[in-house]
Amino acid sequence: MSPKSMLLMNPGPIAFESEVLAAFAHEGISHVDPAFIEVFGWCLEKMRHIFLADDGQPLIVAGSGTLGWDMVGANLLEAGDEVLVINTGPTYCGYFGDSFGTCLERYGANVTHLRAPIGSRPSIEALKDALRKPYKLITITHVDTSTGVLSDAAGYAAAIRAAQPDALVVLDGVCSLGGEELRTKAWDIDVVLTGSQKCIGVPAGLALLMLRPRALAEHSRLGHAKGAYYADWAHWLPIMKNYEARRPSYFATPAVNHFYALQKGFEILLANGGMEKRFEEQRNMSNAIKGALVALGCTFVPAAGMAANTLTCVRYPKGVTGPDFLPKVTARGVSLAGGLHKDIKMEYFRIGHMGQSTRIMEHAIRTINAIEAALIECGHVVETKGKAAALIKSHLKSTLPMSKRGCWSPCCGGRKCPVPLKCQLWSIGLVLAAFGAGVAVASRRK
Ligand SMILES: Cc1ncc(COP(=O)(O)O)c(C=O)c1O
Repeated sequence: MSPKSMLLMNPGPIAFESEVLAAFAHEGISHVDPAFIEVFGWCLEKMRHIFLADDGQPLIVAGSGTLGWDMVGANLLEAGDEVLVINTGPTYCGYFGDSFGTCLERYGANVTHLRAPIGSRPSIEALKDALRKPYKLITITHVDTSTGVLSDAAGYAAAIRAAQPDALVVLDGVCSLGGEELRTKAWDIDVVLTGSQKCIGVPAGLALLMLRPRALAEHSRLGHAKGAYYADWAHWLPIMKNYEARRPSYFATPAVNHFYALQKGFEILLANGGMEKRFEEQRNMSNAIKGALVALGCTFVPAAGMAANTLTCVRYPKGVTGPDFLPKVTARGVSLAGGLHKDIKMEYFRIGHMGQSTRIMEHAIRTINAIEAALIECGHVVETKGKAAALIKSHLKSTLPMSKRGCWSPCCGGRKCPVPLKCQLWSIGLVLAAFGAGVAVASRRK
């Protein structure tokens, strides 16, 4: 099966909109060409709307989400600083909270992990208890891509502010920003970091950070980042300010083509109701998919009420194994991801539903039909065939007016319409001509 006919439902990178890919294919252009400066400046401005932080300093640098971790360590920490990682795993598994902690240790931090059982998250009470010890910086992984757990970011941030008003709160939004409800300023988060390849819907290659005043003040107090050159905000902040003021600037060559794709990605995020609508779409699609999986007799890794909306981590029903099941889904043209958390790796699989897949009902239906057929082939008993897909249809139709192609009326919600204007005019013309012919024939018969 060619990659093109494969529907990518992985938790990132995701399937990209054709408009984003077309923009990515921009011809070569200088990073100081006025046309490019305009695109860079526009992207920086729009970041404040997407991160919901009108007082933030946006940063867009070639790299991936991991560069955001390094930047936090390099620019905000000194040897011996105390850091608390709010972790959604009980023991070291090498994934997101753990690796963020390991990264910060490289910059000399003493890292403490506040842990929870797999599928769960530390309670606010447990956090309050942990906060009896002072910390300079506290990290939250908003969505744990390995277990599908959603952190209570708003609750954690409020508890931290109440106990330690000056602590720096850093949120890893790699698997959340652009989909999950995330209010950087209202929740008073000091740094939000992400990568381009998930809910933003742009090929991997950009690290995006929003730095708020407390973080900027600490960075300027520390001066140049120690032990880092490319990651030093002292180099990047003037570049961002210059591009936003539409002035040419250079520290290291920006990922020029990525910015054209990012502009499209941001246009899509902000169209048709903006972030509030994206949060709603994300929740609706997640609920529809999770409801359909329950109808197939599946259960989930996250505990009730703790599941992320950007991905779903599904436990294999009894008697079904990953090596048997996943190739059967792939053979049906849908790409899913296997388990990631080392303690339960063989017990579950992951479905990503971000970006365009939150707006295209057909993606959810194809995915659920492929899962249903593969489960049946693995010997799992499905009570009523087709019920899961029917549930998705009725759930999505009762929540948002989603069409098969995911266009909202009128005319694709401000996005470029997939039906060219010429075709639309031809269709209207043909309908009118047919109507006219009908009227003419009817009047002759009289
Ligand atoms: C929650 C989370 N944090 C950080 C990362 C690392 O980001 P990247 O792979 O873009 O470097 C990932 C990657 O999937 C992630 O899911």
